[in-house]
Amino acid sequence: MNRRYRKTIIAGNWKMNKTATETRQFAEELKTMLPKTKWCDVVVCVPSVNISAAVKAFKDMRVAIGAENVYYEKSGAFTGEVSADMLKDLGVKYVIVGHSERRQYFGETDSIVNKKVLAVLEAGMSPIICVGESLEQRETGVTTEWIALQVKSALAGVPAEKMRKCVIAYEPIWAIGTGRTATAEQAAEVCSSIRATIRSLYGARVARSVTIQYGGSMKPDNAAELLAQGDVDGGLIGGAALKPDQFVAIINAANQE
Ligand code: 13P
Repeated sequence: MNRRYRKTIIAGNWKMNKTATETRQFAEELKTMLPKTKWCDVVVCVPSVNISAAVKAFKDMRVAIGAENVYYEKSGAFTGEVSADMLKDLGVKYVIVGHSERRQYFGETDSIVNKKVLAVLEAGMSPIICVGESLEQRETGVTTEWIALQVKSALAGVPAEKMRKCVIAYEPIWAIGTGRTATAEQAAEVCSSIRATIRSLYGARVARSVTIQYGGSMKPDNAAELLAQGDVDGGLIGGAALKPDQFVAIINAANQE
């Protein structure tokens, strides 16, 4: 973390979990244990059908609501899709874009991810852009190049003045939902390479202002070490974000002066 230049952001990604009723229950429980979050921002990204319930339920807490996906067209005949303006109108502040599960199961390409990033920014929200390598890519030694390509593709056409709104989440695919976390050194190395890529595109001043999260089996017992790395500015948390006590423990690890 480096709060002099950028925000620390702890975000939960609920994936396809919890009903609207369970969303309200989670918020009630969280309210009883959430500390004053002076040193980090907290985001909860929920399934799109639960956004209204979440915006209402978390209203009195300093918790921003995020979406897990968006479609890039403004409106029209795209049955089943949800536009950035629709999310914005409900009170959404962040939108996860290009999660590896969407790339893997729903065929999202770098070009689709880029269009979504541009649509989210155009609507005035912050994209949380996910990048990450497979185990095979790590083992063959192409991680840095692969991640640089994903970052550059996702940011194509994003002007420097909008970079402050962008969050990048480094999520090694082999660490997602597996209980296998990247070591602090691995996370630090890739997050710093992401910042170097942004620096090469936009210069040092912009690069140092961008929040770069780590995601992949982040838990209360490994969060502090990951967050102690200078270029790791927060976490994108799956499993542990579904349990208020674990989510709060990770927030506490980030909420240190
Ligand atoms: P887990 O924390 O369950 O590994 O999920 C990480 C993730 O995919 C967050 O987007």
